[in-house]
Amino acid sequence: MSPVVPHSGETCVKVSLADRSYDIRIKAGLLRDIGRSLRDLGFSGKVAVVTNATIGRLYTQTVQSSLKAAGYHVTQVVLPEGERSKTLRTVSLILDKLAQCQFERGSVLVALGGGVIGDLAGFAAAIYVRGIPFIQVPTTLVAQVDSSVGGKTGVNHAVGKNLIGSFHQPRLVLIDPDMLKTLPTREWIAGLAEVIKYGVIADEAFFSYLEGHIDAIRKMEEGPVIHVIARSCEIKASVVAQDERESNLRRILNFGHTVGHALESLGGYRKLIHGEAVAIGMVLEAELARELGHCSNEVVSRLRALVKRAGLPDALPPTTFPKLWGAMQHDKKVAQGRVYCVLPEQVGRVVVVPLDQAQFKRWFSERRRKPSQARAPRSSSWSATAHRT
Ligand SMILES: NC(=O)c1ccc[n+]([C@@H]2O[C@H](COP(=O)([O-])OP(=O)(O)OC[C@H]3O[C@@H](n4cnc5c(N)ncnc54)[C@H](O)[C@@H]3O)[C@@H](O)[C@H]2O)c1
Ligand SMILES: [Zn+2]
Repeated sequence: MSPVVPHSGETCVKVSLADRSYDIRIKAGLLRDIGRSLRDLGFSGKVAVVTNATIGRLYTQTVQSSLKAAGYHVTQVVLPEGERSKTLRTVSLILDKLAQCQFERGSVLVALGGGVIGDLAGFAAAIYVRGIPFIQVPTTLVAQVDSSVGGKTGVNHAVGKNLIGSFHQPRLVLIDPDMLKTLPTREWIAGLAEVIKYGVIADEAFFSYLEGHIDAIRKMEEGPVIHVIARSCEIKASVVAQDERESNLRRILNFGHTVGHALESLGGYRKLIHGEAVAIGMVLEAELARELGHCSNEVVSRLRALVKRAGLPDALPPTTFPKLWGAMQHDKKVAQGRVYCVLPEQVGRVVVVPLDQAQFKRWFSERRRKPSQARAPRSSSWSATAHRT
């Protein structure tokens, strides 16, 4: 199935969740139409735009003038930047503003930013007067293909990442790929890891498309970029529609994340950003699948080659087995000492397998005996903190 492309040249992907269904609309320049898009949904009254200073400087003028032209009363909430701001304290800043400006159940919140802003604003929308509507305007590739779709909202706690949160679906996801042009290159490339993930978990043809178009994608050619966003959203929407609250199928979206999250936390969330850790995690989990007899070496080598061509890292940073295993224990995919790992069987098909410490250890020791496999140069040691998706 391909995304619907109406005459306007806009691509639309549907997220089908009964009375919580919504559209993901994708088109270059769509940000300028945000006011009309809210009108089309029937909203009237107050709108709060939640963003940070970097994104605000680039885009709030466009957003504000479009909303005002459509007759909305606009309040802006500018949050501190970065993952460290993803806390309950920051959610309170949003709630304070909404309360002071007398927002009501019918008022709307707009999340204008990457995954951090989307998770914060979505959670505020979930709990203010027991829930107000919100729309996602994702500005990073990670947010456009992943975090803005599916309704997971929340914040970090000192004990663990994404420990506090709620499912609250947006009423619309409005994606303007032009906004990716201002994104730092490292952030843009990191988002490609999640895109590659969709090919591995669900769609061999999409994976082949990525192999054939990776250079055009890296150059940000509009057609391939829109296709990549649309197909990724379509796969995520289909998985979420079948398992909104992650009781089963939705787990496949965690391919690369069991090892990836552990590497991210071992690096203190500074050495590797999320997509980079996921890229390494995907390659290592594919190796693990091969060692356990779930897939052929061709799957590993195709994946590694695409990851490298995308400009992503594929090498395990220096660490020990106890450290890696220890970091994986903080993950919510752990049950009774076993780690639920998503393993590829083919490109386009995965299986979720509970693995024990001995199986992981065997794979880890095997890797050390095979010098041909990619290794990162030695650097300072890593320490673990907890992490959830
Ligand atoms: N809810 C979910 O389902 C889900 C899924 C995946 C990730 N996440 C969360 O998403 C977060 C990561 O999101 P992210 O990768 O988008 O990072 P991010 O939100 O931190 O944004 C990355 C950086 O890019 C800047 N930026 C954003 N858009 C820009 C633009 N268009 N131009 C210039 N600069 C821009 C931001 O200010 C920030 O400094 C994590 O907290 C993760 O837990 C949530
Ligand atoms: Zn991810």
